[in-house]
Amino acid sequence: MKIFLAGATGALGRALIPKLVARGHEVVGMTRSASKQDLLRSLGARPVVADALDADAVAQAVASAEPEVIVHQLTALSGPMSMRDARHPERFSGAIMTNRLRTEGTDHLLAAGRAVGARRFVAQSFGAAQFARSGGAVLTEADPLDPDSPAPPPAAVAALLYLENAVTSIDWGEGLALRYGGFYGPGTGISLAPDATMAAPIRKRRFPIVGDGGGVWSYIHIEDAAAATAIAVERGRPGVYNVVDDDPAPVREWLPVLASALRAKPPRRVPRWLGRLLAGETATVMMTEARAASNEKAKRELGWTPRYPSWRQGFAHGLA
Ligand SMILES: NC(=O)c1ccc[n+]([C@@H]2O[C@H](COP(=O)([O-])OP(=O)(O)OC[C@H]3O[C@@H](n4cnc5c(N)ncnc54)[C@H](OP(=O)(O)O)[C@@H]3O)[C@@H](O)[C@H]2O)c1
Repeated sequence: MKIFLAGATGALGRALIPKLVARGHEVVGMTRSASKQDLLRSLGARPVVADALDADAVAQAVASAEPEVIVHQLTALSGPMSMRDARHPERFSGAIMTNRLRTEGTDHLLAAGRAVGARRFVAQSFGAAQFARSGGAVLTEADPLDPDSPAPPPAAVAALLYLENAVTSIDWGEGLALRYGGFYGPGTGISLAPDATMAAPIRKRRFPIVGDGGGVWSYIHIEDAAAATAIAVERGRPGVYNVVDDDPAPVREWLPVLASALRAKPPRRVPRWLGRLLAGETATVMMTEARAASNEKAKRELGWTPRYPSWRQGFAHGLA
């Protein structure tokens, strides 16, 4: 099939292109930068340069590719996040831009897909921590969400729900939204690379366990996330799918293991009030109250199995 990949140069996009090519697909990858075209060619995709927030440019890029499937992996979350950003996530420029990519960017890609007669649309959503503070520790796609949850901040939740609703309700094709667990592995913020953004504060012991560290998170190795996405390009009914590993775990359990895998000293512990003062309400709720996601639906309906079923093996063997 012909596939148009928006966000082709990102962590997920780079892992996805070779998998699609190996499955016999033709990939057109979008980037804003002419200088990244060679990277896309080296991965096996045909590059096209366009800004996702420019409706005409997106329409033209999609029309020139004539895709059967569009994949939306646009975010602006790869930069470092300071404590100040964490305290005021609603002012963090990467989050503000990501919210635009998940609303306006989605609209432009959907309009372009409809215009060229695409028949399938697969988009990135978020499943590392569920926007809910009630119910069990591990939630399915059918469990109710809390649009007022501070983790992630309300504007991010609104943008994610906008994307999920817009994508899964298209009437001209099949739309799937994949709620990925926290990415780790090469090219992500959690890797052995010196510039890995989340690894840096853990190494500096500036990523403490807050309160009882009882917030439960879901992780996914970037290669496993890409493998599930390659399957979702080909099959699966419209809807939302959690693409996470088999092992949701509280912060107090995974953070020391991750610190050790990064060859850092064990994380410090700070009481909840201090966590709130240092890192703000969103981070504190993530650390103490977050709910994780069940991958049963993705396994059952997509026939996908993660190569790293647990972050325990993944952190030990999958960060390089
Ligand atoms: N995804 C999440 O929910 C999330 C959450 C927290 C942390 N992280 C961390 O963030 C890192 C990267 O994740 P990622 O792959 O989602 O992001 P990424 O590596 O920053 O990739 C973003 C992609 O979106 C494209 N893009 C952004 N703005 C665009 C625009 N206006 N027009 C066209 N393309 C645009 C970029 O293309 P060009 O730059 O080539 O134009 C790039 O291909 C990982 O380390 C992950 O651990 C991700």
